[in-house]
Amino acid sequence: MTTGTVQREAWGSRAGFILAAIGSAVGLGNMWRFSYVAAQGGGIYFVLLYLIFVAAVGIPVMTSEFAVGRLAQESPAKAIGRLGGKAWTPLGWLFVFCGFGILSYYSVIAGWTIRYSFDALRHAIPADTGGYFQAVSTGTGSVVGHVLFMAITIFIVLWGVRKGLERAALILMPILFIILVSLAIWSATLTNSGVGYAAFLNPELGAISVRSVINNAVGQAFFSLSLGMGALMTYASYLKSQQNLGKEATVVALTDFGVAFTAGLIVFPIIYSFGLSDQVGLSMVGALFISLPAGLQSLGQAGDWVVLTFFVMLFFAALTSAISLLEVVVTALVDHGISRRVAAIGAGLVITLAGIPSAFSIKFLTAADQVVGNFLLIVGGFFTAVLVGWKLLPLADAELAKGLASEKVRKGWAMLIRYFVPPVLLIVLVWIIIPETWDAVRALFSP
Ligand code: TRP
Repeated sequence: MTTGTVQREAWGSRAGFILAAIGSAVGLGNMWRFSYVAAQGGGIYFVLLYLIFVAAVGIPVMTSEFAVGRLAQESPAKAIGRLGGKAWTPLGWLFVFCGFGILSYYSVIAGWTIRYSFDALRHAIPADTGGYFQAVSTGTGSVVGHVLFMAITIFIVLWGVRKGLERAALILMPILFIILVSLAIWSATLTNSGVGYAAFLNPELGAISVRSVINNAVGQAFFSLSLGMGALMTYASYLKSQQNLGKEATVVALTDFGVAFTAGLIVFPIIYSFGLSDQVGLSMVGALFISLPAGLQSLGQAGDWVVLTFFVMLFFAALTSAISLLEVVVTALVDHGISRRVAAIGAGLVITLAGIPSAFSIKFLTAADQVVGNFLLIVGGFFTAVLVGWKLLPLADAELAKGLASEKVRKGWAMLIRYFVPPVLLIVLVWIIIPETWDAVRALFSP
């Protein structure tokens, strides 16, 4: 076929697609946010609520993103308007904005993991990890890590789908899984591992309001599963094969959950075995970047090796997620006739600049996370569900049917995406997410 246009890129294998999608989902959100949020309110009840939410909302939305992506065979920014009609174009651009916004601060945190890895390698993490974190996380040091991380991300995206995204996932994800399991086994052998597990999973009801627990569960699900901004839609748009997309979504979502849960089994025993639990309350990043290395310090040089392994794992997790965030922006530009090289470098540079405020202020970073990483993702997820459930259902269903023969399963999915997901997300948005976001933005402007 000679249409004159460049052949659209595609994944080389099913494993490549699945690992890249898991790579997008498994990120910093799994490693620090999940277990911390569970420990803060609900423990095992939080975990169960989260799982129910993943099953009833996460997997149906992910299946929808996969179906629309494979159906469209082009960037969401273009496809949403083409399939849904002119009125829907803003949703496509909202996706691009989210990719841009999330990556700008995500890369700052990822930059800290580079610095920690290097310093652990040189046995140069000081005993005062609080002061050390302060120095690493704000100002010039933070900017350097952020720029370095963005440069690596841009470099991989430059190589395209098969040689960049897929190759990175095929190499980094297996290493990540090996590190994860090894650390979990090591953690289990610590003297106070039981106390750590209890702190992670004990249902401490009343410690936190129901509203906050729901806010955490919903926000965490969208962020962790990379939903609501067309990242997985973009990945599915590079699919040529006709596999069962419902099954793929289930595999990705459950693996993502498994990694988050296992990360909790690593982090909490370390923190509790070394008696640093009082610091955990300080902040989410505090648990990971201050308490954890502080605890491991008491092991001497051996501790440095654990710190190194742990932060390298974090770095890999962040990298495969960042790639998907940048790809959403890049693919939109490529579909508008810009070369991949110019798109990756140009968009990457702008995102790097946009991340500078987050590199200087954790307060700004936190507010950006609430606005883009929570609020806008749920807005995006809501409109995606409405679009698929009410406008594209026959098309999306036909696309799904290519690999998902069971009419019953597809009916169930259609019911959820049409009647369940939109009202649930709308209620959560209005009742919880908007007020929380408002508070976060106000906090940014109050001294
Ligand atoms: N899922 C990643 C994490 O848990 C972050 C991420 C990557 C993301 N791509 C995304 C979040 C797209 C939302 C949308 O850290």
